[in-house]
Amino acid sequence: MSNRNRLLVKGAEQLVLICSQRQKFLTRQQMTQLCVIQNGSLVIGSDGLIKAVGPAETIRAQFSEADFDEIIDASGMCVLPGLVDAHTHPVWAGDRVHEFAMKLAGATYMDVHRAGGGIHFTVEHTRAASASDLLTSLRGRLVRMQRAGTTLVECKSGYGLELQTELKMLQVIEEARRTLPINISSTYCGAHAVPRGKTMEEATENILEVQLPRLKEQMSAGNLRVDNIDVFCEQGVFDLSSTRSILQAGKDIGLNINFHGDELHPMNSAQLGAELGALAISHLEEVTDEGIAAMAEAKTAAVLLPTTAYILRLPHPRARDMLEAGVIVALGSDFNPNAYCCSMPMVMHLACVNMKMSMSEALAAATINAAYALGRSDTHGSLEVNKHGDLLVLNSTRWEHLIYQLGGHQDIIRYVIIKGNIV
Ligand code: NIG
Ligand code: FE
Repeated sequence: MSNRNRLLVKGAEQLVLICSQRQKFLTRQQMTQLCVIQNGSLVIGSDGLIKAVGPAETIRAQFSEADFDEIIDASGMCVLPGLVDAHTHPVWAGDRVHEFAMKLAGATYMDVHRAGGGIHFTVEHTRAASASDLLTSLRGRLVRMQRAGTTLVECKSGYGLELQTELKMLQVIEEARRTLPINISSTYCGAHAVPRGKTMEEATENILEVQLPRLKEQMSAGNLRVDNIDVFCEQGVFDLSSTRSILQAGKDIGLNINFHGDELHPMNSAQLGAELGALAISHLEEVTDEGIAAMAEAKTAAVLLPTTAYILRLPHPRARDMLEAGVIVALGSDFNPNAYCCSMPMVMHLACVNMKMSMSEALAAATINAAYALGRSDTHGSLEVNKHGDLLVLNSTRWEHLIYQLGGHQDIIRYVIIKGNIV
């Protein structure tokens, strides 16, 4: 066996591991005490996994620099895990810049949706687009996310709302997963809206009888890897009972439950998710105290999306109440034509200013806890031996600059590294 290693990152001013005891997630107290090594080094083996991490002198004593394909001298810089974006809708055609103007003039999300815009507008354009055009735009968006430090991203379907287009979207995500360095967790979101001209009951039946069985077939044949199932559980979209049937059917074919709940109205989505053993629920702007308690008990992560509340001028998700109650809080960008944001540093900044999270809490929420929400915290989300060598090197002696500098990530992120390769 060769002794060669892929990458040595040596002498970082601050090496932010996040945690070091193989925790699957962090709760409030632990999020405030992130594990940081001053003057630390890290080794990534030829398999792309982290081989060693520790004080620079310890690593220097154990490894010879001649055995590395690449060496980064990180003196005066910081190293931290690649960011994890736990919620995006990145496959679509047509943008909705015209709706931004409507919303600025006072229209609500549901006003736009009922007027035939919103998701319906995007569905129309996405149905008409070719797989190759969708792949080209998806690649561009994923590259932007990667440049902003995201190394693992959840990607949803959900702008087809019928079998053919939902499969087309999932195949496009699959193709991106196979050909791009960024890690992808893929989500079937056929219940993102009720298609025009159909009732919720008809849409639910189509998902249960047509779409999910075909998805299962494609997954068993090895044509498609799908990780999660999602439903938009909301007044005027899918009610609690339809949501329950769809999520349970997804779970029955091996998908993790990770859905949109309690966004615009309190729907008891949180209680439903806890009962079904959901890995995560997103949004939760309108979650109740009972819902928060149920999620804490069930270890169902809350994926909070500060961009949505910001753009739609909604009440901000109650991050502090959730943290105090012991809920596992994660973050996502919610990238979609409504919330056009590819940047997790910006999301962390908004989480701190608008949701009153500390910078340490925001970083834990955008790394280990977001990885937990995707069922990937055994392999991603912290810099620990045997996890993926996915990390960021910052042009700064303090890691907090990644959050503090509003929108300035292009200048502050010196390297994005995925499985030991600079991307
Ligand atoms: O998470 N709330 C539902 N879904 C998306 C918005 C999708 C869209 O408007 O196209 C969200 O914000
Ligand atoms: Fe969403």
